[in-house]
Amino acid sequence: MSKTKKKENMIHFTIDGQEVQAKEGWTVLETARHYGIHIPTLCYHEAVQPSGACRLCVVEAREGGRSKVVISCMYPSREGVEILTDTERIRNVRRWILEMLLAECPASKEIAQLAEEYGVKSTRFKSEDPEQQCILCGLCVRACEEIVGVRAISFGSRGVSKHIATPYMIPNQACIACGSCVSVCPTGAMQARMDKVRGDVSQRTGHGYAH
Ligand code: SF4
Ligand code: FES
Repeated sequence: MSKTKKKENMIHFTIDGQEVQAKEGWTVLETARHYGIHIPTLCYHEAVQPSGACRLCVVEAREGGRSKVVISCMYPSREGVEILTDTERIRNVRRWILEMLLAECPASKEIAQLAEEYGVKSTRFKSEDPEQQCILCGLCVRACEEIVGVRAISFGSRGVSKHIATPYMIPNQACIACGSCVSVCPTGAMQARMDKVRGDVSQRTGHGYAH
């Protein structure tokens, strides 16, 4: 058997005019990050599977004379595609997404700051709950399941009542209060909940937790 290592097939394309090479299976976002090219994200974390929930990572993909807006955390790197991360079209889509997020979670400082960066000062959409911080991106749920392997939290209800909760809304003995959900949460929504959960787990086990 040959001892020569098989050369990896690389995918060649451009991001904002810069020539890049991606390994097979890398998304556009992974390739951009590899080259230090910034694309804003909220629901993405490299340790869990992408879900495409927030749409903030949109970029323009030009190929064969056509252009389309794609979600970079889900879109595979493709030979010859031209990716543009910060065109006026893309900035407009992100502004629109941020307006919706401002209405969805008006209490999140992180979202307000991001909106300000894009010049979004107010929203045309109606806000249901002025205290809301959660954008329902599901990153906490994926982290709990995929990193910790516990599944202590999940989505509850549907539509406007959708929220993050323990399965079947009953106190969950599986939670070890590790704080992974807090550390991945992009909006600060998980911190207040974790303070309560840590209190409950401390009572249950007799252990204290550092904040
Ligand atoms: S609590 Fe945070 S991580 Fe979980 S869904 Fe809401 S915003 Fe996303
Ligand atoms: S980061 Fe890609 S959809 Fe949220």
